[in-house]
Parts: sequence; C-alpha cells; structure tokens
Amino acid sequence: MNQPMDPTHAPAHVKHARLKAWVAEVAALTEPKDIVWCDGSKEEADRLFALMVEGGSMIKLNEAKRPNSYLCLSDPSDVARVEDRTFVCTDDPEEAGPNNNWESPEKMKETLRGLFKGCMRGRTLYVVPFSMGPIGSPIAHIGVELSDSPYVVVNMRIMTRMGKAVLEQLGNDGEFVPCLHSVGHPLDAGQKDVKWPCNPTKYICHFPKTREIWSFGSGYGGNALLGKKCFALRIASTMARDEGWLAEHMLILGVESPEGKKSYVAAAFPSACGKTNFAMLIPPASMGGWKVTTVGDDIAWIKPGKDGRLYAINPEAGFFGVAPGTSEKTNFNAMATLKENIIFTNVALTDDGDVWWEGMTKEAPAHLIDWQGKDWTPADGKAGRKAAHPNSRFTAPASQCPSIDPDWENPAGVPISAFIFGGRRSTTVPLVFEAFNWNFGVYMAATLGSETTAAAVGAQGIVRRDPMAMLPFCGYHMGDYFNHWLKIGHQVEHAPRIFTVNWFRQDEQGNFMWPGFGENMRVLKWVVGRCSGQADAKQTALGWIPNFEDLDWSGNEEVTKAQFEALTAVDTTAWKEELKLHADWFEKLKSRLPKVMHLKRELFDLTLVD
Ligand code: OXD
Ligand code: MN
Repeated sequence: MNQPMDPTHAPAHVKHARLKAWVAEVAALTEPKDIVWCDGSKEEADRLFALMVEGGSMIKLNEAKRPNSYLCLSDPSDVARVEDRTFVCTDDPEEAGPNNNWESPEKMKETLRGLFKGCMRGRTLYVVPFSMGPIGSPIAHIGVELSDSPYVVVNMRIMTRMGKAVLEQLGNDGEFVPCLHSVGHPLDAGQKDVKWPCNPTKYICHFPKTREIWSFGSGYGGNALLGKKCFALRIASTMARDEGWLAEHMLILGVESPEGKKSYVAAAFPSACGKTNFAMLIPPASMGGWKVTTVGDDIAWIKPGKDGRLYAINPEAGFFGVAPGTSEKTNFNAMATLKENIIFTNVALTDDGDVWWEGMTKEAPAHLIDWQGKDWTPADGKAGRKAAHPNSRFTAPASQCPSIDPDWENPAGVPISAFIFGGRRSTTVPLVFEAFNWNFGVYMAATLGSETTAAAVGAQGIVRRDPMAMLPFCGYHMGDYFNHWLKIGHQVEHAPRIFTVNWFRQDEQGNFMWPGFGENMRVLKWVVGRCSGQADAKQTALGWIPNFEDLDWSGNEEVTKAQFEALTAVDTTAWKEELKLHADWFEKLKSRLPKVMHLKRELFDLTLVD
C-alpha cells in the first residue's frame, strides 16, 4: 500500500467515489498485498488461470479433449453451501423469520470486522464489478464483489456479466450491492499457500436494510460467488418485496409449437429434482416439431410489464450445475454446453486429462484421480467411494448451450405464461394439476414439499416443506413472502397460471410411474395449451387435472392409460393427511402467515370428499 494518492489503485476511468471509498475501507480492514480491478477480459482470466495452475490449485485439462477448461479440487471441508452458517441480519428478528438464522446487524458487523481484520494479508484483493442480468436491462441490478480468491473471479466471469462494461454502466454514482468475500486464510511473510484456502469458521451474512453481503471462510459455490444465491435470491428477494417484483429460484424455458407459437414458463424445484434437465429438455421427435429453449436454469427475476404481464430475465450468464448424473442420455444439451471453456470443481480427472463423474458414462474408466486427488478404480466405486463429489459442479457459459433461447439476453425479459412448482413426492401429489386461481396456486406453492433423497443427510423419504423452492433463499419472513406473492398476482392484469407437477410418483413396488426427461414435454404441452385455452381438463378437489386424452401421446411407448390414471389420481385419504402436515407447517410461520392460507386450507379440506 504505497500509493498514497489513491489507495485503491483504481484505473483512471473509475470515477465512482462511493465505490472507491468502499474499496479503500475494505483494503484498510483486510490489508491485502495489492488490489486488482478486474476488466473481465479473456487475457485477465488466462492470467489468473495460469497463476492458479502454477500455484497448484487448478489443473489445465487436455486442450484437445476439453479446450480452455480447468479442474479445481476443493478442500474436503468446503464442498457445499453452508446453510447453518448463513445469516440474515435485520433489526427485528421477526423480519428475518423462522426460515433464516438471525443476528442483529451491529453485533454481526462487529464479529465480521474481527474476522476480516487482516484476513487478506499476503493476498490480492480483486474488485469484481458485475451485472445480474443483461447490462442496462431495466430488470437487471449491479453488484461489486471484493474477493481474495482468483477462483471466484474466473467463475464470476462466466456466471455474470463482469468487468469494465459494468463499471461504465455504474458511471459516477450508480447503485450497486456491495459483496465482500474472503476465504479467511491470510498468508504471513514467507508462508506457503495451500491449494484451496478456506477457514473452518464460516459466515455467510446478508444485511437487507443496507443491501450488503459479507461472506467469510468458504471459497465454494453459493458461499463465494456472491451474485448467485446471496444477491440474486436473498438480497434480491427483499428488494423485490420493497419494489413490487419477484426474485425466484426458478428456471425459465421457452416452448415453441410446430406452428411457431412461443410461450415462456418459469418453474421452481427444490435441489435434486432435475431442474437443469427440465430447462434443457429435448421433446420426443414423435411429437412433431415441438421445441424447448432455455433462458435460465436456476434463478428468475420477474417484473411487471406495461402490458399487464410478468416479464422475466435470467440474472445469470452461466450455469453452475451439479455434474453427477449428467450424461448425453439425461441431458444432451448440458453435455454439449460442456465441450469447452469450462471450470469443473470436484469432479474426477481421467488419465488423458479429461473429466469424469458418476453417471456420465455407463462404465467408469479403469483409473481416475478422484476429487480428493487420490487414485481411484471401479473397485473403489463398488466399495462406495465416489470418484466425483456428489455436489461437484461445472461452471459453463450459458451462451454455449445448444438450446439457448434467442431472447435469453433480451433486456426486456420474456413474458411468463405459467409458473410450475414441483417437488419429489413418491405418493399423494399427481403428475400435474392446474390451480383454480392465483390464491390457490400460491397455497400449493407455499406448501410445496420434497422428499429427501439417499444423497442428503437424514432419513430417506422424509417430506420437507420447501415453499416455492425458496426455503434456503428467501431473505425475509416466509409469511411475508407468501403475502407478497398474493399481492403480485392481483396487481398484474394477466397473472400467469399456476401449476404443480410431480415427476417422481411411485407405484406400490417403488417403481417410478413417469419416465420423465424428454417425456415431460407431454405435460409441458398441456400446460401451455391450458394457458392458450387449447387443452382440456377435469375438475378435481386439487384443481384442473388432464384426462388421458388431454395429453399428446404420439410416439408414446411407455405410459398406459391405467398408469396415467394412477399417476393423476387424487388420493383423498392421503390428501387429508397431507393437509394436517400443511397445518403443522403453517404453525411454524403463524406470526406472519396470511389469513388466506388458513382459509384456503379449510376450504380445501371441505372439498376433499370421496
Ligand atoms: C443450487 C441449489 O446450487 O439450489 O442451485 O442448491
Ligand atoms: Mn438452485
């Protein structure tokens, strides 16, 4: 720090006084050895990759097999989002709600200042200006991440629009969300760095009133790439509440009929429900020219348009997808996206310098280096040792996806015709149904449940409520969030229709009854058909459910009429039990639960008759 004129080392073109003051303040607190303002260029990324390869924290993959791609292996203690270390800091704990860990902003700042004091010693502080959404879009918002992790910088370059153009958009006094991140591993003079620096103490903190994020101790995923869950969901959900829009954990896809009629759908699923696969679905050729295009696979920002419809953008520019289970068979488009310019984290390395993960191919290679850097053979796999970590990831530019929608970067967004909510339920919830009206749809989304899978901690088959798939991501009280949803639907003239789906219903022998994947197009066609008044349905206590004849079955060889009837059956006894669980769930949120939710539950109960 020997440049007294400008302690931030900002390039001459940076005139944003507040930004520079903040960078100076953070530098004084964290004491980095230098400061680099990122321009987002390929040269800059190449330089950082070279630095990481030299330091041993990145492996350059075989250029002939996976051009311009890298593998990073994290510390085994830092492999996923840490929900129990994630905090929403509001003056009143009630505002954060029972769905968030809470601390007061003053107390948390004091703790964090202690942790951040000198935490970047021996490291470079990177200034990463980024736009969530196309730069300049009226739906987009800007953030600036200050991080001591070059891994974060190269990932942010793929996941967001990052660099010089964002600084230009910010101008002299544009609004931005300050996102401060440190791996929490300072280096004393002469101290050698480790491959994946992190700290056993972790804090992922959100300050909704001042719209700030402070993240300490982790370099992984949503803990460190602060544009994603921290900004685009937790902070943005509070911005959306205050400003009358929606920040949702939703994929966005386009559905195009053979005649060229296009509709857009946004869909929320909890983790491990095949969200990326659904976003990149390839319809069966036998359905005659239906096409699905991808706008986003994880997050949607949705604002009311002048025409009374809701318009959505994908605030991200890349996919940070779970690798295991992704194959040419399960998600052809994802595999095609991954051909080049990719960062892989915690997958396995093949002997010819490429990557592998469980489910990528039927047969595992004879030898691999696993995600912990150890030798691995199929015998280890048989003994239960995974070659790739179950939460291993790819970071991929969305522009490389073959199914990317031509309007995915349209600053105005795409008009949403339907919201779809889906969980993993082996019983009770039919394949698909449409809510009678907005409030009932919000009720269904608010009580969305998903069964834990064997991969998750805890017993298999336990239903966890995950309203709108937002439980870990809503930055304020869930009860207020439901209220916000109720309000939005009544504010816009043409509110989307709301559907529930369940791809995971099982028969008595525990077999999945629905083939899923591309076959989901049959359901999707019915959904968009309902929105344009072209698809029939029968009325049930849950809502509108398709008859067998209401779906397009051309080329179907898998689902019989009897199976379909079982898939769409409304089991009154099971639903009576389900409603008791809804009551338990509501009890947890009762201080701020909208009355309408109780009323809907009672009405629902009354209509459930055999
Ligand atoms: C994700 C998640 O990583 O939802 O997208 O956990
Ligand atoms: Mn997600």
